[in-house]
Amino acid sequence: MRAATQTRYGLDAIEIGDRPIPEPGPAQVRVRIEAAAINPADWHMASGRPSFLRLTEGLRTPRKEILGADMAGVVDAVGEGSTWRVGDEVFGGSKGAFAEFGLCADDRIATRPAGMSFAEAAGLPIAGVTALQAVEHAAVEGKRVVVNGASGGVGHYAIQIAKASGASHVAGVCSASNVAMVNDLGADEVYDYATDDFTADRFDAVIDCAGSRTGSEIRRCLTPEGRWVLLGPPKGGRVLGPLPFVLRQLSRSLFSKTKTIAFVAEETDERLRRLGDLVRNGQLQTVIDKEYGLADLRTAFDHVESARARGKLIIRV
Ligand SMILES: NC(=O)c1ccc[n+]([C@@H]2O[C@H](COP(=O)([O-])OP(=O)(O)OC[C@H]3O[C@@H](n4cnc5c(N)ncnc54)[C@H](OP(=O)(O)O)[C@@H]3O)[C@@H](O)[C@H]2O)c1
Repeated sequence: MRAATQTRYGLDAIEIGDRPIPEPGPAQVRVRIEAAAINPADWHMASGRPSFLRLTEGLRTPRKEILGADMAGVVDAVGEGSTWRVGDEVFGGSKGAFAEFGLCADDRIATRPAGMSFAEAAGLPIAGVTALQAVEHAAVEGKRVVVNGASGGVGHYAIQIAKASGASHVAGVCSASNVAMVNDLGADEVYDYATDDFTADRFDAVIDCAGSRTGSEIRRCLTPEGRWVLLGPPKGGRVLGPLPFVLRQLSRSLFSKTKTIAFVAEETDERLRRLGDLVRNGQLQTVIDKEYGLADLRTAFDHVESARARGKLIIRV
């Protein structure tokens, strides 16, 4: 099968080549991948930056040979004890999604919502689950919430999920060219970050996908018991990356009534099913910025690195 692989860190080490079609183990399925999505996490894994992530991803060389995680496709073989059937159409996380076939754990996939294309469904796993967990942490029901970085992969889902979760006022922050899109997704108010300062207003929660403002600026715009859900901190240095910034903000939060919350998203089948339900209810859609072929993966990585994606970037395998 064709796959994007890497035997050392660095975007220049990415190769498109042939690999054996994998066999599913117990409680696993093999999916014929129709579409995959690329995320900032894939950029970090492929580049090996910041270096501290090599502690878990492989010290000298990446532990995972095939790149990519988010996908949608059709179950084509099942391992022992799997509850899925050949022919089921699914989306979720795969151990290597930038390939024609991928192995998925039974409890890391869900049924593709009818009416949603494979490309749209492939956008959901990491970004959608992150948005879902962020909205939960922000406790938005009846509250005023702002999503900073509202036009990106996570942000565009967070706007819609916050609306569906009963927030009284949902605001988004993005560049001028994306204001109309964020409005169309249901935002009550949209700030163009070049001309408007959202921190001059008051919110019960900030879902921060952009990391473009200082901790003091964010805390100033929060109500006394407000929450800052910090998803996209500033990049930071080559070794520790955003870690020192996040730890500093979390420790400040210990002495303040406002809370700073940081977490690593976990794609469970239950969360994927909830995203599927939101899609079926007409409350959640994927905006696709651009589709790339496997041969154009390097360009897709450059697009991710620019942090200017408009919705999701899709890889056609
Ligand atoms: N904790 C976790 O588990 C987790 C999971 C997923 C993602 N993340 C992190 O969350 C962040 C967002 O991920 P993503 O996939 O949504 O990235 P993305 O698709 O690249 O989106 C980034 C967005 O930020 C916006 N932006 C750029 N500069 C801005 C500014 N000065 N003010 C406000 N918005 C600005 C861009 O909008 P314009 O193009 O309109 O400028 C773009 O749409 C990343 O840092 C990622 O690593 C964390």
